[in-house]
Amino acid sequence: MKALSFLSLILLLTGCGKKGAGTDPEPPLPPALGSLREAAFPFGAAVNVNLMRSTTAYQQVVTREYRSVTAENAMKFRSLHPDAATYTWSDADYLVQYARQNNSRVHGHTLIWHNSLPSWVTNFQGDSAAWENLMKTHIQTVVGHFRGQVASWDVVNEAVAEDGTLRPSPWRQHLGPDYVARAFQYARQADPDAKLFYNDYGHEYGPTKRTAILNLVNGLKSRGIPIDGIGLQLHTNINRSDANLAAAITTAAQTGLLVHISELDVAVNPDNQAGLTLTSALQTAQKAKYKLIVQTYNALPATQRFGITTWNVTDADTWVRGYCSCPDWPLPFNDQYQKKPAYDGIVEGLQ
Ligand code: G3I
Repeated sequence: MKALSFLSLILLLTGCGKKGAGTDPEPPLPPALGSLREAAFPFGAAVNVNLMRSTTAYQQVVTREYRSVTAENAMKFRSLHPDAATYTWSDADYLVQYARQNNSRVHGHTLIWHNSLPSWVTNFQGDSAAWENLMKTHIQTVVGHFRGQVASWDVVNEAVAEDGTLRPSPWRQHLGPDYVARAFQYARQADPDAKLFYNDYGHEYGPTKRTAILNLVNGLKSRGIPIDGIGLQLHTNINRSDANLAAAITTAAQTGLLVHISELDVAVNPDNQAGLTLTSALQTAQKAKYKLIVQTYNALPATQRFGITTWNVTDADTWVRGYCSCPDWPLPFNDQYQKKPAYDGIVEGLQ
């Protein structure tokens, strides 16, 4: 990049390359990236293990573009620990083996969350000591199983409610508000090397939830609780303001922790219109948001750029369509697994 800046300076000073009187020459874009694997920080995707196993085209996109993978569902509590005495590792182990064979990183999602809990947990009738043992045993069994294979974990996911209070999850109710800190301590005991993240959504909604999350994270850090990073899900859309999107990213970096944009998608149908069609205007708006997000993230200190992970791979497998029961096209690859203008926005954001 330095060579390019120098070249641009020469062009500027000698007047070469001017497009017209008084116009600065646009610096030439560096050669297009062969794939997102070449970016300065890891790009990743949350992957569906069934599709990884069954659909070659799906796995080919993942392998070509991404050097980090997150299990969309295979490492959640209900998937790994369906009964008190039963752990089912096969799907998660498949993904870890895929990553090892393809020089990719695995980000673990997620140890403690109020969703995706098996009924034996939601119906658990133990006292607080029994609940503490339940949480500790799950965390340390799972993190221990993947030690040395999973680089990082969303230790606690979505503990903060939209109004900024601590969500009244079963964990909060049975273990008290400080369960978050203890979850990190249990995870650190099980793997001294894994990077431990607090993950949540809504940082870009505005200051209420964002400030509450930052207060929680900074509080843990100031107490010496072993937290390494902050995950911003950024399930966002074309109507979110650039200012709020940028503030979400820059305020997270002010914690001094690793910053992971952990579940990125940019919906183009935020009003859930049943009959919406994907127009070039919507694609252009989506490209601009991806570029803004990547550009802002790329400007963070390199030591804090843990990576950007999209949630799912292509529009054909996005969670958004099922969630809103509406058409949407939130990802950089379309239903035919081809790059969209959104992908170009990511590449331009990396310049
Ligand atoms: O595997 C079962 C299947 O056996 C059963 O027949 C079927 C019908 O009940 O359900 C299947 O499980 C579903 C699972 O996805 C796998 O497809 C669950 O019902 C369904 O709730 C689950 O949805 C996932 C959701 O998290 C809840 O875990 C979505 O795929 C996943 O994209 C979504 O991801 C979350 C992140 O983990 C956290 N941040 C928000 C994000 C989007 O909601």
